[in-house]
Amino acid sequence: MPLPRATAPTTPRCEHRTDSGPALGIGTASPRLSWTVPAADPGYQQGAYEVEITRGEGAPGAEIVRVESPDQVLVPWPSAPLAAREAASVRVRVRAGSGNSDDEGGEDAAWSPWSGAAVVEAGLLHAGDWTARFISPRELGKLDMPAPVLRGRIELPAGAAAGAGEVVKARLYITAHGVYSATLNGQRVGDEVLAPGWTSYRHRLRYQTHDVTALVQAGENVLEVLLGNGWWRGRLGWGGRRALYGDRLALLAQLEVATADGSVHVLASDESWTAHDSAVLCDDLYDGQRTDLRRALVPAASQSQVEGGPVDAVEVVDARLDLDRLVAPEGPPVRVTGVLPAVRVFQSPSGATLVDFGQNLVGWVRLRVRGLQPGDEVVVRHAEVLDGGELGTRPLRSAKATDSYLVAGTPGGDEVLEPSLTFHGFRYAEISGVPNLRADDAEAVVVGSELRRSGWFSCSDERLNQLHDNVVWSMRGNFLDVPTDCPQRDERMGWTGDIQVFSPTAMFLFGSAGFLSSWLADLAADQFPDGSMPFVIPDILSDTKLAKETLKGAGPAAAAWGDAATIVPWVVYQRSGDAAVLARQLPSMRAWVDHLAGLAGPSHLRRGGFQFGDWVDPTAPPDNPFGAKADPDVIATAHFARSAEVVAMAAEVLGDSATAERYAALAASVREAFAIEYVTPAGRVLSDAQTVYALALAWALLPSAKQREGAGRRLAELVGSSGFHISTGFVGTPLVTDALVAAGEVEVAYRLLLQTDCPSWLYPVGMGATTIWERWDAMLPDGSLNPGEMLSFNHYALGAVADWLHRTVAGLAPAAPGYRELLVRPVPGGGLSAAAARHLTPYGEAAVSWERADGQFSLRVDVPVGTTATVHLPGAGEPAPAPARVTHGHHEWLVADPLADPPATGS
Ligand code: BGC
Repeated sequence: MPLPRATAPTTPRCEHRTDSGPALGIGTASPRLSWTVPAADPGYQQGAYEVEITRGEGAPGAEIVRVESPDQVLVPWPSAPLAAREAASVRVRVRAGSGNSDDEGGEDAAWSPWSGAAVVEAGLLHAGDWTARFISPRELGKLDMPAPVLRGRIELPAGAAAGAGEVVKARLYITAHGVYSATLNGQRVGDEVLAPGWTSYRHRLRYQTHDVTALVQAGENVLEVLLGNGWWRGRLGWGGRRALYGDRLALLAQLEVATADGSVHVLASDESWTAHDSAVLCDDLYDGQRTDLRRALVPAASQSQVEGGPVDAVEVVDARLDLDRLVAPEGPPVRVTGVLPAVRVFQSPSGATLVDFGQNLVGWVRLRVRGLQPGDEVVVRHAEVLDGGELGTRPLRSAKATDSYLVAGTPGGDEVLEPSLTFHGFRYAEISGVPNLRADDAEAVVVGSELRRSGWFSCSDERLNQLHDNVVWSMRGNFLDVPTDCPQRDERMGWTGDIQVFSPTAMFLFGSAGFLSSWLADLAADQFPDGSMPFVIPDILSDTKLAKETLKGAGPAAAAWGDAATIVPWVVYQRSGDAAVLARQLPSMRAWVDHLAGLAGPSHLRRGGFQFGDWVDPTAPPDNPFGAKADPDVIATAHFARSAEVVAMAAEVLGDSATAERYAALAASVREAFAIEYVTPAGRVLSDAQTVYALALAWALLPSAKQREGAGRRLAELVGSSGFHISTGFVGTPLVTDALVAAGEVEVAYRLLLQTDCPSWLYPVGMGATTIWERWDAMLPDGSLNPGEMLSFNHYALGAVADWLHRTVAGLAPAAPGYRELLVRPVPGGGLSAAAARHLTPYGEAAVSWERADGQFSLRVDVPVGTTATVHLPGAGEPAPAPARVTHGHHEWLVADPLADPPATGS
């Protein structure tokens, strides 16, 4: 019998890289590989793969390694580790069956064709690979001075130009204290913005690797790097705090040019560099950027005196960061991810010129101006909303969000105005200094981590489609290197609770495994030695007076926020199949749970201490987001049980059964204590709030069937008595629909989902929202702004319901890590006539779509090669129809619509 065949696998991906180009600057010597198989014969199951590795120039020919394994996601590097800078080209092919299977077609015929070749190149893997030093201008570039440009030069031999065959390869390894943007010989290096991004700088600072082969030239080469304040030295947090990491900007840059004769020419940042002022007079992430375009950024200058300013010497600075803290990026860089045209230019009641971009987004405004005189000032202010017809800046609190320009006044020509060292969250801009502004002259440049889109949802209700779109935009805006709460006001921090609830949605919508793994490394680095967890990662709050007063000397241990330490790694593992994330995080996960166990003591209950609780419960008083109905001790004890259980499951995955048993026993004790202390025999839960029922049902905290039934009924009653309005905050909202469905209250879940009065998910949609709001009533029905605090219009946390739309409404869920098994169980309801979801799983695209028409329910499912699916058809009958198990390919079912009205009986 011939073995079933597969088509050629896709070009292998390296670690969590999702970009299509060469994987340059990989931070590990043994990068793991993944591929998908676009199509295969029925019955195909991978039995073996071969990896062909061709190492860099001069290395002996290709090495082929055969591995008998069904795995195709994050498989181990099968060869000797790469050296720093070493490149390899890698292809794979796959075969069904076992090594000794007897394929009629002969051994070779059983193999798929080879995939395309991926190029993998290691970065600088050790501190010793750097000869560069951190340098900083001596006199220029101080706080409140213009952004400096640092300049270094290198002479390359004649004939070294790219294309002349002499330059074999040129790489720039670079990072900064601050944010940087580099040019080589006047040409922009790469297209990243706000590099090196934001990490827990005291422990981890990313460097970037750029291929600059095409930019180097024979003779003199000039590397110039503009440094902005960024997160390092700009404002961060409330109360005007800034320069949290240091008051000097610095650059670390190493340009390595290899020529055909085998020599490597290196330009490394050191005292030989110089500095001068740039055209950027000031720059700040919160406040914006001011640029004097009369002092144009100097092009490839070889002159020693820069127009408009003196040349300064630089000095090597005590980095406060040794080179061991340099890490290669795990996730994608921040880039421009889109450009939106202005939809309308109009005058406000006070006569200001306003531009509406039609979408709340994150980035900046690009303006084209003409006919202005040198030194004329153009000012661009940003806001997410209008307030009484004027730019609504109150939600920004103290962030000025203002870019301004002193124009060069190019005679007869257009001048393009845009910043590069800041970002804003906005839909509207107020522009002054440009007479007769046309919509054509303004566009919004969208900026964020360039994550690959991997998840889609649609259904027959356009309002839900808009809600989903709003979730996508809130993720785009708040995944700007760090998963932030909001992108616009004087905050923009990596609030742990927000990403804890949103991580499942994030992992579905965009390839976020690398992004979140990197953030988790920061989390572990910033966690306190006693296991307590900062509220934000990177941690910039713990040393504030406010935090100290709030915590009264105790380590922070806020439920749902600190539990990001356990839940986010678990979600990343579940959705990506990457067990190494668990291995790396396990000490941090354990430390958090051990800390909670210490706080709880023998009672296993969490009592008192600072808690955010069910933050922004809409029934809490507007001026007291802490005043939620759900009891904070109940919430905290529920999270303690869940986190202990997650640690047990993670240890089990990692094969550490002793640890798994210990934490499973702890989880069981906490659950027992929870039930004794907080749950009545009939299933009432202390504080009788929707959130406590949602937690108890979703996390199996109710021991008896009677309690579960009682709690489910009570939850449905409470949702009904609230008029199907949302009455949950950050903690309960992501779980309430799941809990209702688990309790058999499908229509109640749908009524809650489809409510349009405030508060509800669809109320903001009706108010024209294009992103998810921080609070349900951020804008009041009359269009005015809520008079209270916490008024972000771009906060993904409450959009966590999208995960339920994917898993339950459309019915596409993972049933094994990395979606190696799919659970297809659509739960139709709410009058929807159709719903669909698609996801690029690590194995390829999975898709589910269903439709109800003419008394029939049709279901279509696409299962990627390498996975299986268990498909539950909705059915009214008892017992429910048996689930079908299917393998890869396209599958369709047609059954009676369980929700169809019974046919009218003729009389
Ligand atoms: C943030 C929230 C965050 C919260 C902590 C707020 O200022 O915007 O999203 O989780 O503080 O309670």
